[in-house]
Amino acid sequence: MLGFVAVVAVIAYAALVGVTGSLNLDIAAQAQENGNVPGHALGNVSDSDVWRQIRRGEVGKVSIPDLKSAVLINAEGSAWRAARNGPISFWGGLVIAASLAFIILFNVIHGRIVLRRGRSGEVIPRFSQAERWVHWFAAGTFILLGLTGLALIFGRYVLKPLFGPDVFAIIANASLQSHNLFGPIFIVALVILLGLYMRDNLWQNGDLSWALKGGFIGDSHPKSWKYNLGEKAWYWALFFGGLALAGTGLLLEFPWLFDRLSVLQLAHVIHAISALGLIAFSVGHIYLGVWGVEASLDGMTKGYVDVNWAKEHHGWWADEVLENRPAVVEGAAEAAAEDAPPAPAE
Ligand code: HEM
Repeated sequence: MLGFVAVVAVIAYAALVGVTGSLNLDIAAQAQENGNVPGHALGNVSDSDVWRQIRRGEVGKVSIPDLKSAVLINAEGSAWRAARNGPISFWGGLVIAASLAFIILFNVIHGRIVLRRGRSGEVIPRFSQAERWVHWFAAGTFILLGLTGLALIFGRYVLKPLFGPDVFAIIANASLQSHNLFGPIFIVALVILLGLYMRDNLWQNGDLSWALKGGFIGDSHPKSWKYNLGEKAWYWALFFGGLALAGTGLLLEFPWLFDRLSVLQLAHVIHAISALGLIAFSVGHIYLGVWGVEASLDGMTKGYVDVNWAKEHHGWWADEVLENRPAVVEGAAEAAAEDAPPAPAE
């Protein structure tokens, strides 16, 4: 009899084990998961399956309002990080390096674009004070944001090996703070800049002929309006790229505006691509403004340009200004005379 009871008890216990998958019948996981707990020895679902689901971003159950906490591993986050540290950094870095290499090569082969007839001494107005102020303000903040952004994305590969982890941590932290602080200031300057400069950057008849006749590269100095097609391309790149940069930057700075991680990850990717593209483009703009085209910088520093420069680079615009506003030209010439160095004593 005792033997029979023992056999029945063993069979009943074995049956229970089969149902629950656990020798320990009162553990908490059993109550929550109907016995489907991870573990070769303690559960009837394999560890690998469970962790695979978690790695793919399986959403669990939580009793608090923040549903994001029901996800143990954010699978999209891993894809985003891989894209940021992989193709975006690689191709972005390559585009900036290619842009720098192109400028150096252009300068070596083509050289500086000089004034063929030298300066005439007569000047015409090109940029108002407001246009110059907003240009330099936007340019200054753009350069600061560009450098701090580059430190954040490439710092670990360039600055960390050079200065060590402690100094890099200080640079990265300072970069992040100033990036966050100057981002919104740049956006205000950018919007005003785009508004002020839009009219003369719209398409005009003759724009294409400037490019077809060689633009900057040929020696023919084709005529153009106030801005040639190359400058207009810079403006519209700044318009679309800058607005994408600004919109996504605001989302990243104030993430509660859009409380979805996938939206923020997409915003970050668009932010990085448009920033790296604009930095690469700005290298060409800065080269031409500072050194590439003789006497170009005058317009943006003093507000007026030499008539020979205007005729050689922006012929149709120069004709228009000289024809329609002779009084202004005289006024500007006086201004230029004031700016000229004093005549040597006889
Ligand atoms: C050290 C940096 C820079 C220098 C030396 C520089 C220089 C110049 C110069 C000389 C011009 C006048 C060109 C002309 O008369 O046709 C100009 C125009 C302009 N610059 Fe800059 N610039 C710099 C950075 C920037 C940056 C970072 C931006 C954008 C945020 C920018 C946006 C513009 C725009 C929109 C124009 C008007 C012409 C156009 O529509 O293409 N500049 N710049």
